[in-house]
Amino acid sequence: MSHGASPSPLSAHSAKALTGTIRVPGDKSISHRSLMFGALAVGRTTVRGLLESEDVLATADAMRAVGAKIEKHADGSYTVDGVGLGSLLEPDRVIDFGNAGTGVRLTMGIFGTHDIAATFVGDASLSGRPMGRVLDPLRQMGTNVVARDGDRLPASVRGAKAPVPLTYRVPMPSAQVKSAVLLAGLNCPGETTVIEPIPTRDHTEKMLAGFGAEISVTLNEAGERVIKLQGQPELKPQDIDVPADPSSAAFPIVAALIVPGSDVTIENVMLNEHRTGLITTLIEMGGNIELMNKRSAGGEEVADIRVRASQLKGITVPAKRAPSMIDEYPVLAVAAAFAEGDTFMPGLDELRVKESDRLAAVARGLEANGIPCVETEDTLTVTGGANNIGGGTVITHLDHRIAMSFLVLGMAAHKPVTVDDGAVIATSFPTFKSLFSGLGADFSENGSAAA
Ligand code: S3P
Repeated sequence: MSHGASPSPLSAHSAKALTGTIRVPGDKSISHRSLMFGALAVGRTTVRGLLESEDVLATADAMRAVGAKIEKHADGSYTVDGVGLGSLLEPDRVIDFGNAGTGVRLTMGIFGTHDIAATFVGDASLSGRPMGRVLDPLRQMGTNVVARDGDRLPASVRGAKAPVPLTYRVPMPSAQVKSAVLLAGLNCPGETTVIEPIPTRDHTEKMLAGFGAEISVTLNEAGERVIKLQGQPELKPQDIDVPADPSSAAFPIVAALIVPGSDVTIENVMLNEHRTGLITTLIEMGGNIELMNKRSAGGEEVADIRVRASQLKGITVPAKRAPSMIDEYPVLAVAAAFAEGDTFMPGLDELRVKESDRLAAVARGLEANGIPCVETEDTLTVTGGANNIGGGTVITHLDHRIAMSFLVLGMAAHKPVTVDDGAVIATSFPTFKSLFSGLGADFSENGSAAA
């Protein structure tokens, strides 16, 4: 679904203490991959706790378009009857990925080494994002590509009859690019190698191993991850329990820290080491965050996270931590607005090419609400502790995380905060509003942020 035609403004008002125990939806990265890998296996994969957001449902549609059968059952679980690697059918329709960067880039990788033609479109946000980072390696594997200028969507791919495996060094820290090349390598004969100078989330590697692919990860002399995948494996269906998404948990975690008197527990949150940079950072800032009942589930560590309102202090966030919290900077910037002193966030160049130019969108949103900040090409500094903040309207640019971050701001600011379109939240966290209302948050839908 595309947003933006008739935006629905949403405001968050200053909340009394947020209290309670919640479960945020399943992890987006794992949900996309469960459907994709299930579609490539032969037999029936079962997925419990799938994130039922617009992004993930677009991936389900794409997998159906190449012959997978995906069904939801009465108990809420999904089954995927795979069509099998190498046996994908040619889609008889254009594949619309809406807002979903992960969905489209990984799917281009999968389809791009199959001997089928497929055309991809997306909403205004996705159509503005760079696809060359995935289309370039695909071209090297023999894929024919037709794309709009600058390698933007709409784009069509047609895989070679005999695709060639690649050794590819990922030029930017991107799990999507790494994954697209590995997934393209699945249908190539021989070995595909991906060299990852800066580590990023490793769900593709872990889950492909779980589905029975021969995949190894080692470190070279320079300390870079070297991932080797043997092509044309027979993928075996799996039973998957999707843990809660740490990137969605980020919103109640920050809200509980900054709304005075709060005490919130978020259950069953995934703690994959490539995803927990925000928690590390908030603890360094003085956040009272307790990881309780740590356990292992489906190959990932999970925990219940208890967060109590805390006085935060500004810090410098190490640039090398960025890949492990890349989606969390907008809400960290909101936390920083309540910290004592400056929070300096370097190494943010990848934020420029997310669902929006997130660095600019965050800076404009902070300014609109009276929060001092300085934006450079790849850094953001936020000065905390300003008085009388809030009262502004934030332009979301079809970016779900901008919308949710600034609604969290409104829960703790002196004056309400409005986002120009609350509907975009459905991209990743459809239950955002109801879960927060249950904790004590106060929203209004008329879009008026008058104090
Ligand atoms: C994702 C990778 C990240 C992240 C996105 C999900 C994934 O994107 O921002 O939300 O599931 O692989 P990049 O690879 O572009 O950093």
